[in-house]
Amino acid sequence: MHNGLCHYAALAHALHLVRATDVRRVTGYQDFVDTAPLDLIMVADYARMKLVPVSQRMTYAYAFAGAMAQNVYLYCTSEGLATVIHAWRDRDALSRAMGLGYGQQFLLSQNVGHKAPYPLLPPK
Ligand SMILES: Cc1cc2nc3c(=O)[nH]c(=O)nc-3n(C[C@H](O)[C@H](O)[C@H](O)COP(=O)(O)O)c2cc1C
Repeated sequence: MHNGLCHYAALAHALHLVRATDVRRVTGYQDFVDTAPLDLIMVADYARMKLVPVSQRMTYAYAFAGAMAQNVYLYCTSEGLATVIHAWRDRDALSRAMGLGYGQQFLLSQNVGHKAPYPLLPPK
């Protein structure tokens, strides 16, 4: 497993290191995003959606991202892991940190980590 920003190559089912930098801080506003072991960042690459009418590309991209996020939720539940989805963030900062190009748009991100000990608060 690489440390840094990786691109997931679906056909090869492989991770390729893009930048050996930690971009987790710009993937959300809560503190836990800085330390979550894994942060999945879903990006639309509109140039690769030529079969979809231009006016529908963003709708398709968000629908795909939602389905992928749901699969991650199901997997995490089955493995006893924790996950949370995010859409609210500094999109410009994240795009810069990731080096996104024209036609590439951040959609959603999803932190994956271990569950916090329960109960979170000590008994009274
Ligand atoms: C598409 C989508 C985007 C979301 N974006 C954010 C977000 O940016 N920040 C946030 O705190 N919660 C966001 N939420 C809500 C959280 O993912 C989560 O549902 C909420 O924190 C409650 O989680 P819990 O039930 O595991 O405690 C989003 C939910 C969805 C479905």
